[in-house]
Amino acid sequence: MKIGILTGGGDCPGLNAVIRAVVRKGIFHYDDEFLGFMEGWRGLIENQSMALDLDAVSGILPRGGTILRTSRTNPSKRPDGFDRCMATIAAHKIDALVAIGGDDTLSVAQKLHEKGVNVVGVPKTIDNDLGGTDYTFGFDTACNIVCEAIDRVHTTAEAHNRVMVVEVMGRDAGWIALYSGIAGGADVILIPERPFDVDKVAESIRQRHERGRYFSIVVVAEGAKFATGAGAPVVQDMGKDEFGHAKLGGIANILAREIENRTKFETRAVVLGHIQRGGSPTAFDRVLATRYGLGAIDMVHRGEFGCMAALRSNKIVSITLKEAISKNRVVDDEMIEIADGLFEEIGAKVASK
Ligand code: F6P
Repeated sequence: MKIGILTGGGDCPGLNAVIRAVVRKGIFHYDDEFLGFMEGWRGLIENQSMALDLDAVSGILPRGGTILRTSRTNPSKRPDGFDRCMATIAAHKIDALVAIGGDDTLSVAQKLHEKGVNVVGVPKTIDNDLGGTDYTFGFDTACNIVCEAIDRVHTTAEAHNRVMVVEVMGRDAGWIALYSGIAGGADVILIPERPFDVDKVAESIRQRHERGRYFSIVVVAEGAKFATGAGAPVVQDMGKDEFGHAKLGGIANILAREIENRTKFETRAVVLGHIQRGGSPTAFDRVLATRYGLGAIDMVHRGEFGCMAALRSNKIVSITLKEAISKNRVVDDEMIEIADGLFEEIGAKVASK
């Protein structure tokens, strides 16, 4: 078969591991031929591609980013976007397409599937918020990067008697904040799923310092919301990407100021930003990404189109793209309750209810 591959949306450590696994198994076991489309859906719209053979995927397993590069291009926002995608697929006589991406990329994959393209999806996002799958690759790497950053922030916070507010990614889901906050021993964890009361956050920090601790670590998700606000997250500017997403960011600085005003403890903000998405994937993500890639190429040869490889109870299974994109997987109450066990009753709880 002649198979196209593309990576769309924000990059994520492990993308190259998926590409490598798809190509190696496709060539070794199925005698496939591969073409990589460049920069997500832009590659199909503008007919930009590269040959993907064994040489092209050699040595890419530990590399972050994606050799196919990526973009947040949305065919429905481009003139004749979908027709041009279909024309490129026809021109290259592509039998099947493997689309590696998050909910945006996979929602386009679903539309192409409805137009008759043989598409298989692979879930990707550091946010871990894609429905139907237990974990997405990239999440573990991001959590490890944040955990290391929290460890480093700890020592400087301790040395200066400071409160440090660490802002992490995750958009509308608090998975990175929750996991890395637990792993890094944060004193307060704030996530988008539970708007927080800043007075309670300040009070819990004040009480902790009264008990003899003289520094605190607050982990805040970029999409976390003040309970008193209009229910909207803090944004960097009013711009939106082609899928309608706002550029989140900036809550750590506001929160640090509010905490300092209330507690009079010196407070600093650290925004980790794209550092969380860069560099080599962890061993866990390399293995998970490889398993997704191997699962996806098998799905292509079983004719499971309009489907996505998913991880369920540590098995790679096939679910429909429709199910995967139907809703975001946010942190559930059960997980919040578990994490709350670490904190005292007063506001320091994850939810700060
Ligand atoms: O979806 C992944 C993600 O890293 C989010 O956590 C973050 O809000 C967003 O992408 C940042 O997007 P960009 O790379 O376009 O700034």
